[in-house]
Amino acid sequence: MWDYTDKVLELFYDPKNQGAIEETGESGVKVATGEIGSIACGDALRLHLKVEVESDKILDARFQTFGCTSAIASSSALTEMIKGLTLDEALKVSNKDIADYLGGLPEAKMHCSVMGQEALEAAIYNYRGIPLTSHDDDDEGALVCSCFGISESKIRRVILENNLTDAEQVTNYVKAGGGCGSCLANIDDIIKAVQQESAAPALNNYALKVATDIATSQQQSQLSLTNVQKIALIQKVLDEEVRPVLIADGGDVELYDVEGDRVKVLLQGACGSCSSSTATLKIAIEARLQDRVSKNLVVEAV
Ligand code: FES
Repeated sequence: MWDYTDKVLELFYDPKNQGAIEETGESGVKVATGEIGSIACGDALRLHLKVEVESDKILDARFQTFGCTSAIASSSALTEMIKGLTLDEALKVSNKDIADYLGGLPEAKMHCSVMGQEALEAAIYNYRGIPLTSHDDDDEGALVCSCFGISESKIRRVILENNLTDAEQVTNYVKAGGGCGSCLANIDDIIKAVQQESAAPALNNYALKVATDIATSQQQSQLSLTNVQKIALIQKVLDEEVRPVLIADGGDVELYDVEGDRVKVLLQGACGSCSSSTATLKIAIEARLQDRVSKNLVVEAV
């Protein structure tokens, strides 16, 4: 018997927001769906979002889940957490946030919170027309666990986001290694590589630097710029502070247009096809431009 919190049991016995959301043709709203998992692997989640087009706000969220107690509770918690958020705000919800909302999950059940986070991303990416690539044909996305179809990029992400330090934890979070076990040595190698790389000047360190810079500059007043000056400054910041970091990671960004405070960019190379491209937009580009140019800027990929 798993040691579940009262909140997990409450949302399992009386789940909130179970069911689907159908397209009704209502003007000004769109329905987005994201699906993760497969019944063959034991858990599957289909998440439905009703989005107000003009505000990007999630008006309603519902789920259909095939899975265990914690899968149903995690799905229900997720829908409660994201209703009323904008899509950008919802993208900041992590699997840890879902587990925290539930008062914690047994570590062997953390994959249920990961499934919720991934279904949310899938729904938002589908809504925005961003392709969800499998990465199976690039080196970093090579398939590591054939029993559960888990790629290296997915394992790397869960290690980084949850500070995982051993292969058993990775199994608990994404199931990799939980079948025949032949991939466990590879997972150990990936953990070591991620730990070594965390000391390298990669995007995570860049995000940390951005956060530090923002903290130190929050006291400073924002510049008052004409539109022409604003566009020139955005281009300068992209060229001098953002692109060199992205290029070092195999990606790039190009300024496409500026409409008021909306900055439209083209993500290229690894950034364009990466499942973390939205994080790149928000952490590496938008935060930097808000810091350097105007706190009102919103960055969008085209
Ligand atoms: S290949 Fe990963 S458990 Fe079998």
